[in-house]
Amino acid sequence: MNIIQIDRNCGKTPSQLLAEAMDFHAAGELEAAETAYVAVISRGYRVIDVLPLLAGISSANGDFEIALERWSQLLELQPSHLFGLMEKAALLHRLGRWSDAVRHLEMAEQIDPFNPATLLNLGVALLDAGRGHEAAKVLRRLADIQPGNPLVEHQIRRVSSALVPFWHIPMLNDQARNDAFEKAIQQAISAHGSDASVLDIGAGSGLLSMMAIRAGARSVVCCESVEIIAEMTKRIVSINGYEDQIRVISKNSKELVVGEDLNKRADVLVSEILSCDLLSESVLNTFEDAIDRLVHEDAAIIPRSITAMGCLIESDVLAKYAFVDRVSGFDVSPFTELASTRLPVHGKLTSWRRLSEDHDLIQIDLRARRHEGTYQKLSLPVTADGTAVGIMQWIRVDVAEGVEFSNPPDDYSDGGWLQVVHTFSRPVVVRAGDAFELLAGHDRTSLILMPAHK
Ligand SMILES: C[S@@+](CC[C@H](N)C(=O)[O-])C[C@H]1O[C@@H](n2cnc3c(N)ncnc32)[C@H](O)[C@@H]1O
Repeated sequence: MNIIQIDRNCGKTPSQLLAEAMDFHAAGELEAAETAYVAVISRGYRVIDVLPLLAGISSANGDFEIALERWSQLLELQPSHLFGLMEKAALLHRLGRWSDAVRHLEMAEQIDPFNPATLLNLGVALLDAGRGHEAAKVLRRLADIQPGNPLVEHQIRRVSSALVPFWHIPMLNDQARNDAFEKAIQQAISAHGSDASVLDIGAGSGLLSMMAIRAGARSVVCCESVEIIAEMTKRIVSINGYEDQIRVISKNSKELVVGEDLNKRADVLVSEILSCDLLSESVLNTFEDAIDRLVHEDAAIIPRSITAMGCLIESDVLAKYAFVDRVSGFDVSPFTELASTRLPVHGKLTSWRRLSEDHDLIQIDLRARRHEGTYQKLSLPVTADGTAVGIMQWIRVDVAEGVEFSNPPDDYSDGGWLQVVHTFSRPVVVRAGDAFELLAGHDRTSLILMPAHK
Protein backbone atom coordinates (compact mmCIF):
# COMPACT_ATOMS: atom_id res chain seq x y z
CA MET A 1 0.00 0.00 0.00
CA ASN A 2 1.36 3.42 -0.88
CA ILE A 3 1.13 5.98 1.84
CA ILE A 4 1.15 9.51 0.60
CA GLN A 5 2.30 11.88 3.29
CA ILE A 6 0.95 15.35 2.97
CA ASP A 7 3.12 18.15 4.39
CA ARG A 8 0.52 20.33 5.99
CA ASN A 9 3.10 23.04 6.46
CA CYS A 10 4.00 23.31 2.82
CA GLY A 11 3.29 26.74 1.54
CA LYS A 12 3.71 28.45 4.92
CA THR A 13 6.67 30.70 5.57
CA PRO A 14 8.91 29.86 8.54
CA SER A 15 7.71 32.96 10.36
CA GLN A 16 4.08 31.90 9.87
CA LEU A 17 4.98 28.46 11.19
CA LEU A 18 6.67 29.99 14.21
CA ALA A 19 3.66 32.19 14.95
CA GLU A 20 1.43 29.11 14.70
CA ALA A 21 3.74 27.13 17.01
CA MET A 22 3.68 29.92 19.56
CA ASP A 23 -0.11 30.04 19.46
CA PHE A 24 -0.28 26.30 20.11
CA HIS A 25 2.27 26.72 22.89
CA ALA A 26 0.31 29.56 24.51
CA ALA A 27 -2.86 27.43 24.32
CA GLY A 28 -1.08 24.56 26.09
CA GLU A 29 -1.21 22.32 23.00
CA LEU A 30 2.33 21.09 23.51
CA GLU A 31 2.36 18.27 20.99
CA ALA A 32 1.18 20.52 18.16
CA ALA A 33 3.56 23.27 19.28
CA GLU A 34 6.48 20.85 19.31
CA THR A 35 5.70 19.59 15.80
CA ALA A 36 5.46 23.13 14.50
CA TYR A 37 8.69 24.27 16.26
CA VAL A 38 10.52 21.27 14.77
CA ALA A 39 9.25 22.29 11.34
CA VAL A 40 10.55 25.83 11.99
CA ILE A 41 14.07 24.77 12.86
CA SER A 42 14.16 22.15 10.11
CA ARG A 43 14.07 25.15 7.79
CA GLY A 44 16.98 26.70 9.62
CA TYR A 45 14.82 29.54 10.89
CA ARG A 46 15.63 31.16 14.29
CA VAL A 47 17.10 27.90 15.53
CA ILE A 48 18.76 29.52 18.54
CA ASP A 49 15.46 31.06 19.66
CA VAL A 50 13.38 27.93 19.09
CA LEU A 51 15.63 25.27 20.66
CA PRO A 52 15.04 26.62 24.21
CA LEU A 53 11.27 26.45 23.59
CA LEU A 54 11.58 22.86 22.40
CA ALA A 55 13.79 21.96 25.37
CA GLY A 56 11.17 23.52 27.66
CA ILE A 57 8.40 21.41 26.11
CA SER A 58 10.48 18.22 26.50
CA SER A 59 11.14 19.04 30.15
CA ALA A 60 7.44 19.80 30.72
CA ASN A 61 6.63 16.38 29.24
CA GLY A 62 9.23 14.71 31.48
CA ASP A 63 11.40 13.85 28.43
CA PHE A 64 14.56 15.02 30.18
CA GLU A 65 17.06 13.27 27.91
CA ILE A 66 15.49 14.89 24.84
CA ALA A 67 15.52 18.24 26.64
CA LEU A 68 19.22 17.79 27.41
CA GLU A 69 19.87 16.92 23.79
CA ARG A 70 18.13 20.12 22.69
CA TRP A 71 20.13 22.25 25.13
CA SER A 72 23.29 20.56 23.85
CA GLN A 73 22.35 21.37 20.24
CA LEU A 74 21.88 24.96 21.26
CA LEU A 75 25.23 25.10 23.04
CA GLU A 76 26.97 23.57 20.06
CA LEU A 77 25.65 26.43 17.96
CA GLN A 78 26.35 29.07 20.60
CA PRO A 79 28.67 27.82 23.40
CA SER A 80 28.38 31.08 25.32
CA HIS A 81 24.56 31.01 25.52
CA LEU A 82 24.21 31.89 29.21
CA PHE A 83 20.57 30.90 29.53
CA GLY A 84 21.28 27.60 27.75
CA LEU A 85 24.18 26.82 30.08
CA MET A 86 22.10 27.66 33.14
CA GLU A 87 19.06 25.67 32.03
CA LYS A 88 21.09 22.64 30.98
CA ALA A 89 22.93 22.78 34.32
CA ALA A 90 19.62 22.99 36.20
CA LEU A 91 18.39 19.90 34.37
CA LEU A 92 21.64 18.01 34.98
CA HIS A 93 21.41 18.92 38.66
CA ARG A 94 17.83 17.71 38.82
CA LEU A 95 18.95 14.42 37.25
CA GLY A 96 21.67 14.04 39.91
CA ARG A 97 24.53 14.60 37.41
CA TRP A 98 26.20 17.07 39.73
CA SER A 99 29.69 17.14 38.20
CA ASP A 100 28.25 17.86 34.76
CA ALA A 101 26.03 20.54 36.29
CA VAL A 102 29.08 22.12 37.94
CA ARG A 103 30.97 22.05 34.62
CA HIS A 104 28.19 23.94 32.84
CA LEU A 105 27.78 26.44 35.67
CA GLU A 106 31.52 27.09 35.69
CA MET A 107 31.27 27.90 31.98
CA ALA A 108 28.37 30.24 32.78
CA GLU A 109 30.43 31.82 35.55
CA GLN A 110 33.26 32.54 33.12
CA ILE A 111 30.84 34.38 30.87
CA ASP A 112 29.22 36.39 33.68
CA PRO A 113 31.25 36.12 36.92
CA PHE A 114 28.86 38.27 38.94
CA ASN A 115 25.56 36.69 37.92
CA PRO A 116 23.80 35.90 41.22
CA ALA A 117 21.74 33.02 39.82
CA THR A 118 24.84 31.36 38.36
CA LEU A 119 26.76 31.71 41.60
CA LEU A 120 23.89 30.41 43.72
CA ASN A 121 23.33 27.38 41.48
CA LEU A 122 27.07 26.76 41.26
CA GLY A 123 27.38 26.83 45.07
CA VAL A 124 24.55 24.34 45.49
CA ALA A 125 25.84 22.06 42.71
CA LEU A 126 29.37 22.10 44.18
CA LEU A 127 27.98 21.10 47.57
CA ASP A 128 25.95 18.27 46.07
CA ALA A 129 29.00 17.18 44.07
CA GLY A 130 30.87 16.78 47.38
CA ARG A 131 33.01 19.92 46.83
CA GLY A 132 31.83 21.77 49.93
CA HIS A 133 34.87 24.01 50.39
CA GLU A 134 34.59 25.35 46.86
CA ALA A 135 30.85 25.78 47.42
CA ALA A 136 31.55 27.85 50.52
CA LYS A 137 33.90 30.15 48.58
CA VAL A 138 31.44 30.70 45.73
CA LEU A 139 28.57 31.38 48.12
CA ARG A 140 30.61 33.81 50.16
CA ARG A 141 31.46 35.67 46.96
CA LEU A 142 27.73 35.80 46.26
CA ALA A 143 27.00 37.06 49.78
CA ASP A 144 29.36 39.98 49.08
CA ILE A 145 27.41 40.78 45.92
CA GLN A 146 23.98 40.29 47.50
CA PRO A 147 24.27 40.89 51.25
CA GLY A 148 21.15 39.93 53.17
CA ASN A 149 19.77 37.58 50.49
CA PRO A 150 18.03 34.91 52.60
CA LEU A 151 18.53 32.17 49.99
CA VAL A 152 22.25 32.80 49.97
CA GLU A 153 22.32 32.87 53.76
CA HIS A 154 20.43 29.56 53.85
CA GLN A 155 22.88 27.90 51.43
CA ILE A 156 25.91 29.25 53.31
CA ARG A 157 24.58 27.79 56.55
CA ARG A 158 23.80 24.53 54.77
CA VAL A 159 27.36 24.31 53.42
CA SER A 160 28.87 25.15 56.82
CA SER A 161 26.88 22.51 58.60
CA ALA A 162 27.82 19.94 55.96
CA LEU A 163 31.50 20.68 56.56
CA VAL A 164 31.61 21.38 60.29
CA PRO A 165 30.39 18.72 62.73
CA PHE A 166 27.58 19.82 65.04
CA TRP A 167 29.55 19.12 68.22
CA HIS A 168 31.89 22.10 67.83
CA ILE A 169 29.45 24.47 69.52
CA PRO A 170 28.51 22.32 72.56
CA MET A 171 32.20 21.42 72.87
CA LEU A 172 33.15 25.10 73.06
CA ASN A 173 30.42 25.68 75.62
CA ASP A 174 31.78 22.85 77.78
CA GLN A 175 33.40 24.89 80.54
CA ALA A 176 34.69 21.86 82.46
CA ARG A 177 36.55 20.64 79.37
CA ASN A 178 37.90 24.11 78.61
CA ASP A 179 39.09 24.61 82.19
CA ALA A 180 40.81 21.23 82.27
CA PHE A 181 42.74 22.02 79.09
CA GLU A 182 43.60 25.53 80.25
CA LYS A 183 45.00 24.20 83.53
CA ALA A 184 47.11 21.64 81.68
CA ILE A 185 48.39 24.30 79.26
CA GLN A 186 49.29 26.62 82.16
CA GLN A 187 51.24 23.81 83.87
CA ALA A 188 53.14 23.03 80.66
CA ILE A 189 54.04 26.67 79.95
CA SER A 190 55.20 27.27 83.48
CA ALA A 191 57.34 24.11 83.33
CA HIS A 192 58.88 24.94 79.92
CA GLY A 193 58.97 28.74 80.20
CA SER A 194 57.52 31.41 77.96
CA ASP A 195 60.02 30.62 75.20
CA ALA A 196 58.40 27.22 74.84
CA SER A 197 57.26 26.53 71.31
CA VAL A 198 53.65 25.36 71.38
CA LEU A 199 51.95 23.27 68.71
CA ASP A 200 48.15 23.01 68.78
CA ILE A 201 46.89 20.24 66.47
CA GLY A 202 43.25 20.60 65.49
CA ALA A 203 42.80 24.27 66.29
CA GLY A 204 39.03 24.59 65.78
CA SER A 205 38.18 28.05 67.07
CA GLY A 206 41.80 28.55 68.20
CA LEU A 207 40.72 28.34 71.84
CA LEU A 208 43.62 26.23 73.09
CA SER A 209 46.18 28.32 71.20
CA MET A 210 44.78 31.51 72.73
CA MET A 211 44.89 29.85 76.15
CA ALA A 212 48.58 29.09 75.56
CA ILE A 213 49.31 32.75 74.83
CA ARG A 214 47.30 33.77 77.89
CA ALA A 215 49.37 31.30 79.92
CA GLY A 216 52.52 33.15 78.86
CA ALA A 217 53.71 31.45 75.67
CA ARG A 218 55.19 33.98 73.28
CA SER A 219 54.10 32.17 70.15
CA VAL A 220 52.00 29.25 69.04
CA VAL A 221 51.63 27.38 65.79
CA CYS A 222 48.30 25.70 65.26
CA CYS A 223 46.93 23.69 62.39
CA GLU A 224 43.43 22.83 61.30
CA SER A 225 42.64 20.35 58.55
CA VAL A 226 39.16 21.62 57.64
CA GLU A 227 39.66 24.67 55.44
CA ILE A 228 36.47 26.49 56.39
CA ILE A 229 37.31 26.00 60.09
CA ALA A 230 40.89 27.17 59.57
CA GLU A 231 39.57 30.40 58.06
CA MET A 232 37.39 30.81 61.15
CA THR A 233 40.41 30.12 63.41
CA LYS A 234 42.25 32.99 61.72
CA ARG A 235 39.27 35.30 62.12
CA ILE A 236 38.84 34.50 65.80
CA VAL A 237 42.56 34.74 66.56
CA SER A 238 42.54 38.12 64.87
CA ILE A 239 39.47 39.56 66.65
CA ASN A 240 41.08 38.55 69.94
CA GLY A 241 44.25 40.43 68.94
CA TYR A 242 46.60 37.43 68.74
CA GLU A 243 47.38 37.37 65.02
CA ASP A 244 51.05 38.25 65.64
CA GLN A 245 51.52 35.48 68.15
CA ILE A 246 49.44 32.62 66.76
CA ARG A 247 50.26 31.23 63.35
CA VAL A 248 47.28 29.36 61.91
CA ILE A 249 48.12 26.78 59.26
CA SER A 250 45.32 25.37 57.17
CA LYS A 251 46.69 21.83 56.95
CA ASN A 252 46.41 18.43 58.52
CA SER A 253 49.20 17.90 61.05
CA LYS A 254 50.60 15.10 58.84
CA GLU A 255 51.46 17.74 56.25
CA LEU A 256 53.34 20.01 58.67
CA VAL A 257 57.08 20.28 58.10
CA VAL A 258 59.58 21.40 60.74
CA GLY A 259 61.71 24.15 59.23
CA GLU A 260 58.80 25.36 57.09
CA ASP A 261 55.60 25.43 59.11
CA LEU A 262 57.32 25.31 62.52
CA ASN A 263 60.75 26.83 63.14
CA LYS A 264 61.69 23.89 65.35
CA ARG A 265 60.18 20.90 67.08
CA ALA A 266 57.61 21.95 69.68
CA ASP A 267 58.13 21.87 73.45
CA VAL A 268 54.42 21.59 74.14
CA LEU A 269 51.91 19.62 72.09
CA VAL A 270 48.27 20.26 72.81
CA SER A 271 45.64 18.48 70.79
CA GLU A 272 42.01 17.88 71.56
CA ILE A 273 40.92 15.59 68.75
CA LEU A 274 39.08 13.09 70.89
CA SER A 275 35.85 11.61 69.61
CA CYS A 276 33.09 10.17 71.82
CA ASP A 277 34.42 6.72 71.09
CA LEU A 278 37.97 7.86 71.70
CA LEU A 279 39.71 6.84 68.50
CA SER A 280 37.71 7.63 65.42
CA GLU A 281 39.32 11.04 64.74
CA SER A 282 42.60 9.26 63.82
CA VAL A 283 43.98 10.22 67.19
CA LEU A 284 46.64 7.49 67.28
CA ASN A 285 48.01 8.24 63.80
CA THR A 286 48.09 11.95 64.62
CA PHE A 287 49.86 11.63 67.98
CA GLU A 288 52.36 9.04 66.70
CA ASP A 289 53.23 11.25 63.74
CA ALA A 290 53.53 14.38 65.91
CA ILE A 291 55.76 12.60 68.42
CA ASP A 292 57.95 11.24 65.60
CA ARG A 293 58.38 14.41 63.62
CA LEU A 294 57.00 17.52 65.26
CA VAL A 295 57.87 17.62 68.97
CA HIS A 296 60.97 17.32 71.19
CA GLU A 297 61.59 14.11 73.07
CA ASP A 298 60.80 15.73 76.42
CA ALA A 299 57.82 17.73 75.13
CA ALA A 300 54.73 18.06 77.29
CA ILE A 301 51.96 16.09 75.62
CA ILE A 302 48.42 17.28 76.38
CA PRO A 303 46.43 15.14 76.99
CA ARG A 304 48.72 12.45 78.39
CA SER A 305 46.40 9.48 78.19
CA ILE A 306 42.84 8.54 77.42
CA THR A 307 40.61 5.80 78.75
CA ALA A 308 37.38 4.28 77.45
CA MET A 309 35.13 3.45 80.38
CA GLY A 310 31.89 1.56 80.33
CA CYS A 311 29.26 -0.68 81.83
CA LEU A 312 26.77 -3.26 80.68
CA ILE A 313 23.32 -1.77 80.15
CA GLU A 314 19.70 -2.67 79.59
CA SER A 315 17.49 -0.31 77.60
CA ASP A 316 14.16 -1.02 75.91
CA VAL A 317 14.49 2.07 73.78
CA LEU A 318 18.02 1.27 72.59
CA ALA A 319 17.11 -2.39 72.02
CA LYS A 320 14.77 -1.10 69.33
CA TYR A 321 17.78 0.46 67.58
CA ALA A 322 19.91 -2.66 67.94
CA PHE A 323 17.67 -5.65 67.25
CA VAL A 324 14.68 -6.50 65.10
CA ASP A 325 12.62 -9.69 65.10
CA ARG A 326 9.08 -10.14 63.72
CA VAL A 327 7.48 -7.10 62.10
CA SER A 328 3.88 -6.94 60.80
CA GLY A 329 3.78 -10.74 60.86
CA PHE A 330 7.06 -11.24 58.94
CA ASP A 331 10.39 -12.57 60.20
CA VAL A 332 12.87 -9.78 59.42
CA SER A 333 15.26 -10.81 62.21
CA PRO A 334 18.29 -11.33 59.88
CA PHE A 335 18.31 -7.54 59.39
CA THR A 336 19.80 -7.30 62.90
CA GLU A 337 23.11 -8.36 61.28
CA LEU A 338 23.13 -4.94 59.60
CA ALA A 339 22.39 -2.97 62.77
CA SER A 340 24.67 -0.12 63.80
CA THR A 341 27.37 -1.25 66.22
CA ARG A 342 27.76 2.24 67.64
CA LEU A 343 24.85 4.32 68.88
CA PRO A 344 25.83 7.80 70.02
CA VAL A 345 23.46 8.64 72.90
CA HIS A 346 22.88 11.39 75.37
CA GLY A 347 23.04 9.44 78.62
CA LYS A 348 20.82 11.86 80.52
CA LEU A 349 18.16 12.06 77.82
CA THR A 350 17.99 8.33 77.08
CA SER A 351 16.29 5.72 79.20
CA TRP A 352 18.73 2.99 80.26
CA ARG A 353 19.76 0.96 83.32
CA ARG A 354 23.16 -0.24 84.56
CA LEU A 355 23.59 -3.99 84.73
CA SER A 356 27.23 -4.01 85.83
CA GLU A 357 29.81 -1.96 87.68
CA ASP A 358 31.68 0.70 85.69
CA HIS A 359 34.98 -0.53 84.34
CA ASP A 360 38.05 0.87 82.56
CA LEU A 361 37.83 -0.86 79.20
CA ILE A 362 40.86 0.41 77.29
CA GLN A 363 43.57 2.82 78.34
CA ILE A 364 45.90 4.49 75.85
CA ASP A 365 49.05 6.43 76.71
CA LEU A 366 49.26 9.13 74.06
CA ARG A 367 52.95 9.74 74.85
CA ALA A 368 53.86 6.28 73.49
CA ARG A 369 55.67 6.23 70.15
CA ARG A 370 53.63 3.33 68.77
CA HIS A 371 50.26 1.73 69.42
CA GLU A 372 49.24 -1.65 68.15
CA GLY A 373 45.67 -2.90 67.86
CA THR A 374 44.94 -5.13 70.83
CA TYR A 375 42.18 -6.78 72.83
CA GLN A 376 41.82 -8.65 76.09
CA LYS A 377 39.18 -10.46 78.07
CA LEU A 378 37.65 -8.45 80.92
CA SER A 379 35.34 -9.68 83.63
CA LEU A 380 32.54 -7.24 84.46
CA PRO A 381 30.76 -7.94 87.78
CA VAL A 382 27.01 -8.04 86.98
CA THR A 383 25.02 -6.06 89.54
CA ALA A 384 21.41 -6.55 88.36
CA ASP A 385 19.32 -9.13 86.50
CA GLY A 386 18.41 -8.00 83.00
CA THR A 387 18.86 -8.25 79.24
CA ALA A 388 21.94 -6.44 78.02
CA VAL A 389 21.75 -4.45 74.81
CA GLY A 390 25.48 -3.63 74.86
CA ILE A 391 28.10 -1.49 76.57
CA MET A 392 27.47 2.15 77.46
CA GLN A 393 30.90 3.74 76.88
CA TRP A 394 32.30 7.14 77.80
CA ILE A 395 35.74 8.66 78.06
CA ARG A 396 38.14 9.79 80.78
CA VAL A 397 40.94 12.10 79.74
CA ASP A 398 44.13 12.40 81.77
CA VAL A 399 44.90 15.91 80.59
CA ALA A 400 47.94 16.56 82.78
CA GLU A 401 49.24 15.86 86.30
CA GLY A 402 46.19 16.17 88.58
CA VAL A 403 43.91 17.32 85.75
CA GLU A 404 41.28 14.88 84.64
CA PHE A 405 38.15 15.13 82.61
CA SER A 406 35.32 12.67 82.04
CA ASN A 407 31.80 12.50 80.53
CA PRO A 408 29.92 9.85 82.54
CA PRO A 409 26.45 9.13 81.15
CA ASP A 410 24.53 10.10 84.29
CA ASP A 411 26.54 13.15 85.25
CA TYR A 412 27.37 15.09 82.09
CA SER A 413 24.84 16.88 80.00
CA ASP A 414 26.17 20.03 78.45
CA GLY A 415 29.28 19.11 76.52
CA GLY A 416 30.25 18.19 73.01
CA TRP A 417 30.81 14.52 73.74
CA LEU A 418 27.92 12.12 73.72
CA GLN A 419 28.25 8.64 75.14
CA VAL A 420 28.33 5.67 72.78
CA VAL A 421 26.42 2.43 73.15
CA HIS A 422 28.34 -0.41 71.53
CA THR A 423 25.56 -2.82 70.70
CA PHE A 424 25.90 -6.58 70.91
CA SER A 425 24.86 -8.72 67.95
CA ARG A 426 21.95 -10.10 70.01
CA PRO A 427 20.41 -9.41 73.46
CA VAL A 428 22.28 -11.14 76.30
CA VAL A 429 20.46 -12.21 79.48
CA VAL A 430 22.55 -11.68 82.64
CA ARG A 431 22.04 -12.39 86.36
CA ALA A 432 23.26 -10.34 89.32
CA GLY A 433 26.37 -11.96 90.77
CA ASP A 434 27.57 -13.30 87.38
CA ALA A 435 30.82 -12.16 85.86
CA PHE A 436 30.21 -10.96 82.30
CA GLU A 437 33.13 -11.83 80.07
CA LEU A 438 33.83 -9.02 77.62
CA LEU A 439 36.39 -8.72 74.83
CA ALA A 440 37.69 -5.17 75.01
CA GLY A 441 40.29 -3.62 72.75
CA HIS A 442 40.84 -1.51 69.66
CA ASP A 443 42.07 -1.74 66.08
CA ARG A 444 43.68 1.76 66.26
CA THR A 445 40.63 3.57 64.88
CA SER A 446 37.67 1.84 66.54
CA LEU A 447 36.93 0.24 69.87
CA ILE A 448 36.24 -3.50 70.00
CA LEU A 449 33.65 -4.34 72.66
CA MET A 450 31.79 -7.66 72.42
CA PRO A 451 30.79 -10.61 74.59
CA ALA A 452 33.67 -13.08 74.93
CA HIS A 453 31.32 -16.04 74.48
CA LYS A 454 28.58 -16.30 71.87
C1 LIG B 1 37.52 18.37 68.82
S1 LIG B 1 37.94 19.74 67.84
C2 LIG B 1 38.85 20.73 68.98
C3 LIG B 1 39.00 22.18 68.59
C4 LIG B 1 39.81 23.01 69.57
N1 LIG B 1 41.16 22.51 69.70
C5 LIG B 1 39.19 23.03 70.94
O1 LIG B 1 39.65 22.28 71.80
O2 LIG B 1 38.22 23.76 71.17
C6 LIG B 1 39.16 19.02 66.82
C7 LIG B 1 39.52 19.81 65.55
O3 LIG B 1 40.70 19.23 65.05
C8 LIG B 1 40.65 19.13 63.64
N2 LIG B 1 41.60 18.03 63.35
C9 LIG B 1 41.48 16.73 63.69
N3 LIG B 1 42.59 16.05 63.40
C10 LIG B 1 43.46 16.95 62.85
C11 LIG B 1 44.78 16.86 62.37
N4 LIG B 1 45.46 15.71 62.39
N5 LIG B 1 45.37 17.97 61.86
C12 LIG B 1 44.69 19.15 61.85
N6 LIG B 1 43.44 19.29 62.30
C13 LIG B 1 42.83 18.21 62.81
C14 LIG B 1 39.19 18.89 63.35
O4 LIG B 1 38.84 19.33 62.06
C15 LIG B 1 38.52 19.74 64.42
O5 LIG B 1 38.27 21.03 63.96
